[in-house]
Amino acid sequence: MNRLNLSGLQQWIDDRYPMTSTWRYHMTEYYVPKNVNWWYLFGSLSILVLVIQIVSGIWLMFYYQPSVERAFSSVEFIMRDVDWGWLMRYMHTTGASAFFLVVYLHMYRGLLYGSYKKPRELLWITGVLIYLVMMTEAFMGYVLPWGQMSYWAAQVIIALAGVIPVVGDELVVWLQGGFVVNEATLGRLFALHVVALPLVLIALVFVHIVALHHVGSSSPDGVEIKQNKDENGKPIDGVGFHPYVVAKDMFGWGIFLILFCAVMFFAPTFGGYFIEAPNFQEANPLQTPEVIHPIWYFTAWYAMLQSIPSEALGVIVMLAAPGILLFLPWIDRSPVKSIRYRGLGFKVALAAFTVSFLVLTWAGMEEPTGLPILLSQISTVIYFGFFVFLWAYTYFGFEKTKPVPERVTV
Ligand code: HEM
Repeated sequence: MNRLNLSGLQQWIDDRYPMTSTWRYHMTEYYVPKNVNWWYLFGSLSILVLVIQIVSGIWLMFYYQPSVERAFSSVEFIMRDVDWGWLMRYMHTTGASAFFLVVYLHMYRGLLYGSYKKPRELLWITGVLIYLVMMTEAFMGYVLPWGQMSYWAAQVIIALAGVIPVVGDELVVWLQGGFVVNEATLGRLFALHVVALPLVLIALVFVHIVALHHVGSSSPDGVEIKQNKDENGKPIDGVGFHPYVVAKDMFGWGIFLILFCAVMFFAPTFGGYFIEAPNFQEANPLQTPEVIHPIWYFTAWYAMLQSIPSEALGVIVMLAAPGILLFLPWIDRSPVKSIRYRGLGFKVALAAFTVSFLVLTWAGMEEPTGLPILLSQISTVIYFGFFVFLWAYTYFGFEKTKPVPERVTV
């Protein structure tokens, strides 16, 4: 009887394509510190959510119509008439919020364990670029259903380009493809949202993973496992990504998917945080919603913009706030990576930074008056103050670090 000769097939492919060696390099012989904790789950969760977004997005595209006349009603059609259309839409809207949640936690792990430090600077920079592209992608997607918030958010955000001296006003008209947000604007945002930016995002994630596998994962101790290898060149404190980390990640994916489904099936608007109430009304250029603010994952930056009386300065600050993350590897000069062995000053500063970001996120959803504005101003100062403090604290050697162990602790 002829049996399928799998090793023969494998050899045939390997002679023509580096299949087995790629699998080994990226899976079985990619060694991860054996003490990585749950903070290290969020990178792989980001990949899962990216896939969810692409699959549900393609599905939505089957029925969505990018025209001012039909956008809103085509979304209603998806929700009410298309088989499982409501599921695909809620998957995409829940996925958008989940994406930012897991990426914020992923970035926060970077702050806790100094993942941006040598030799992971480029890994961090590609990450920040991913985040910037994700924000653009999410903004554009938000406009597509052509609800009240979609329309007015587009109006407010594109108009910000008007603060650029000399060319600002013309630039706004050029970006919009007209004097107001209109058919042309919707068409170009659609093209960018469904084709251009996903391609950029996927390419950046690819580069991100290539960089990761070149330098290796950090450990919660900040110990580099590549520095302790056995006679075969395998890191003593490492375990193969496959099957060990894969098994752990799959468990995490399971928990995540249970929570994701709970939101998607039982609370898809999440009390107005994931889909805002005004977006269930069709865009009306003649009626401004009572409060215009972006969705929760942008409100920290938006609160900064609103709290600064000069619009031009506000725009600069709003762009500088995520932009400064690009320079973090050079701002933080500490020889120690992990928060476990860092000085008290770093811990207090990081706590203040965390609270300031959460306060900004809250304040950006409130009406821009009184307390929210005051708290946003204080939090903006703390946000930037964190980076200034971190530089001075580590550059002038004020930090009293604890000794880092030779080997990872378990
Ligand atoms: C689509 C978004 C993203 C995907 C799919 C992704 C994927 C991953 C994966 C799979 C890992 C390895 C597992 C882990 O350490 O959690 C990782 C590590 C890392 N990522 Fe991302 N990432 C994304 C966004 C970001 C962002 C926004 C940043 C920072 C601004 C970032 C910075 C890093 C760093 C510094 C590491 C190395 C961590 C270490 O070993 O200490 N990533 N990423």
